[in-house]
Amino acid sequence: MAKSRTVFVCQNCGAESPKWIGKCPQCGEWNTYVEEVIKKTSQSSATNSYLPHQKPVLLSAVEATEEIRIDTLNKELNRVLGGGLVPGSLILIGGEPGIGKSTLVLQIILHLKSKKTLYVSGEESIQQIKLRAERLQLHHPSCYLASETALTQIFDDIQEIQPDLVVIDSIQTISSDTIESYAGSVSQVRECALAFLKFCKTTSTPVILIGHINKEGNIAGPKVLEHIVDTILQFEGDRHYMYRILRPIKNRFGDTSELGIFEMLHNGLREVSNPSELLLSQNHEGLSGIAIASAMEGIRPFMIETQALVSSAAYGMPQRSCTGFDIRRLNMLLAVLEKRVGFKLSQKDVFLNIAGGLKVNDPAIDLAIISAILSSNIDVAIEKHVCMAGEVGLSGEIRPINRIQQRIHEAEKLGFTKMIIPYSNLKKNELEKIKIEIIQVKKVEEAFKVLFKK
Ligand code: TYD
Ligand code: MG
Repeated sequence: MAKSRTVFVCQNCGAESPKWIGKCPQCGEWNTYVEEVIKKTSQSSATNSYLPHQKPVLLSAVEATEEIRIDTLNKELNRVLGGGLVPGSLILIGGEPGIGKSTLVLQIILHLKSKKTLYVSGEESIQQIKLRAERLQLHHPSCYLASETALTQIFDDIQEIQPDLVVIDSIQTISSDTIESYAGSVSQVRECALAFLKFCKTTSTPVILIGHINKEGNIAGPKVLEHIVDTILQFEGDRHYMYRILRPIKNRFGDTSELGIFEMLHNGLREVSNPSELLLSQNHEGLSGIAIASAMEGIRPFMIETQALVSSAAYGMPQRSCTGFDIRRLNMLLAVLEKRVGFKLSQKDVFLNIAGGLKVNDPAIDLAIISAILSSNIDVAIEKHVCMAGEVGLSGEIRPINRIQQRIHEAEKLGFTKMIIPYSNLKKNELEKIKIEIIQVKKVEEAFKVLFKK
């Protein structure tokens, strides 16, 4: 006899409680508890009914297989996965609606011509997926499509087709009939994700789950999913720009500081292998408030344009606005400017923008940001072929940064003639090999002297 039990589950973090509570004691969110009915089958979890039990084995009896990775034929995806798809891994791709998750995944599986794939969509009909494939102008000899939301049915399809790769679009639309709550609730998401996890690990088939994002920008039903999957990739970008970033948030098989960059075109996503093109298409000669920074994401250097606009504050409180940069860090940099160079920035509005809709975490772009602000403030443009890299400390000192050689190399490659870098970041013998003019500075004042000497 199937027994059922009622629990209240926090829709934010997945904490359970036998009675309703207003504030979640685990995550501190208000009004997130929802009643969910869980039907108990004779087995503790419904997951077990889909798949055979695997007996424990002796460590010594396990054959060591060399880690083989499946080449996804997509350099940017391979990069964020840490060198390709690991067999038996469970990958979650999250992102806002309309950012291009379905497009990305469909494009990838349609390029994998040697693999039998199953694309399960709970959101779109088979015809709609076909239309998208036509738009991408891609064909595949053994790609199966299913428009399905019932977990048991999906596993039946998997049994029948025996695919090499499974895609679930999206995990929030799939539901298991052992749980009575609606699809997308925490317990459904957890149950379904666990079922796919078990499937991955027992059959060594990789599964890609697509996940929605909630209003705070986290993956919906998030915390529970975070612990279940091997890899979380966030697909992000500004809707007004065509650039899209694939950012690993968690990766059991690779580095999370890597970035994959794409451009959304009318016929799908194009891999952007040279991110500096984000900026170098524009000609900004003679414009004040623009500085070029050498940034680093993972092990890949690229040049990025920072733009600032400083204007007189019309009302009492000056405005500060940032896109692609931390506002607290901006305030700190403004305080440094005020203290070190004596600019009355408290009477000025400051707007800051990183071109291309990119979000950059590298502290080495500080120097460019502070220079762009000053350039706008005094309305003097920075020379066109100058770029810079350096972290700015609280007392206005320019602090050393990592991978300086690579950054300089990138600047050389892109035709810059002058680069401002932190003092003592490079050894004397390293300096000799460099073709572009390198200016080493200790303090922000020195950098400003070089930039605005006229
Ligand atoms: P989609 O993959 O449906 O987004 P998600 O699954 O994340 O909700 O992408 C939808 C957007 O992408 C839509 O605005 C149309 C655009 N798009 C293109 O610009 N080019 C294309 O080739 C495709 C397939 C979509
Ligand atoms: Mg979609």
